Amino acid sequence: MCDEKVNRCECVHKTFEQLKAYADFDTAQAATGCAAECEGCTPYIKLMFASGETEFDIEDPRLSLYE
Ligand code: FES
Repeated sequence: MCDEKVNRCECVHKTFEQLKAYADFDTAQAATGCAAECEGCTPYIKLMFASGETEFDIEDPRLSLYE
């Protein structure tokens, strides 16, 4: 079991805590470029805006809603 947590966009070096300051996914993406490079963080950031949480299991089952 991997207990590594996902809590940032690695490509633009922004934590989900920082990205949460924006109004929504589209605003955060436009302002920072997050979720626009490898896009690996995209479902996590969408889940972050939906749940208010800023740290996720790498295989959080809720991610399937945002893929
Ligand atoms: S980790 Fe966010 S775009 Fe690559």
